[in-house]
Amino acid sequence: WGPMGHATVAYIAQHYLDGAARILTSHLLSGSSLPDVSSWADSYRFTDGGAFSSVFHYIDAHDQVPHKCNIKMERDCPPEGCIVTAIANYTERILNDDLTLAERADALKFVVHFIGDIQQPLHTENLAVGGNEIPVFWGGESVKTNLHAAWDRNIPETLAGGSTIATASSFADSIIQDLETGIYSTLKNEWTSCGSIKRGIGCPKAWAQDANKIVCSDVLPNGAEEVQNKDISGAYYERNKMIARQQIAKGGYRLGLWLNKIAKAEQLKC
Ligand code: ADE
Ligand code: ZN
Ligand code: ZN
Repeated sequence: WGPMGHATVAYIAQHYLDGAARILTSHLLSGSSLPDVSSWADSYRFTDGGAFSSVFHYIDAHDQVPHKCNIKMERDCPPEGCIVTAIANYTERILNDDLTLAERADALKFVVHFIGDIQQPLHTENLAVGGNEIPVFWGGESVKTNLHAAWDRNIPETLAGGSTIATASSFADSIIQDLETGIYSTLKNEWTSCGSIKRGIGCPKAWAQDANKIVCSDVLPNGAEEVQNKDISGAYYERNKMIARQQIAKGGYRLGLWLNKIAKAEQLKC
């Protein structure tokens, strides 16, 4: 996602934090909010010394889209790591007392970002570098982009009505309403049924699996040819905007409850 999508995930998560998680996160971030730090990992990856973290933003599932979509860790997550192992490792690091506060703060900033990214279907897909190499148009022949960027930014930002942090806040409010009493109110319990932070890659693997299935069902149900060099701001957008919104809702709700579990584990240590 772009900064607007990540900030939306973070605003939703913040709404679901319990007291212990609020104390832990504001302590580690020395007062900064989750939305403030939600895109830090995307700047960090391009800094000197930050390149190692680029592979942590995605997992490249190698199944034959659109006929098969599945995650196989041995096949899809290389020794350098991927988003699934990164979420497990940085979750552990938030809780690791042998690290400095700055290291644990970075771990939290990574987890906030990666639990957003893992819901973006094309962050769980190998095809054409996660759709980065599928050229598309947005709103006419003048705006050339690619399918990955359309899912990261054009689709959510068109739906939310902007690309700013202020837009993210109001977009999050409308999603929180649906989580509380609307279309997501009964679904949301299934979204967090994967279990404990102590299961290592258990939950992140399930989330990657969930997002990757959507590549076959909705992102590219008829393969890349259907969208390649087409304007996807019309029927394709209409068909997929609520899928993107639901993935952002999942990210926010999953992140909020994940941070609550981390804070609970932190309390049990002492
Ligand atoms: N680089 C390689 N694969 C990618 C993916 N699935 N998403 C984003 N960047 C990538
Ligand atoms: Zn992306
Ligand atoms: Zn990212």
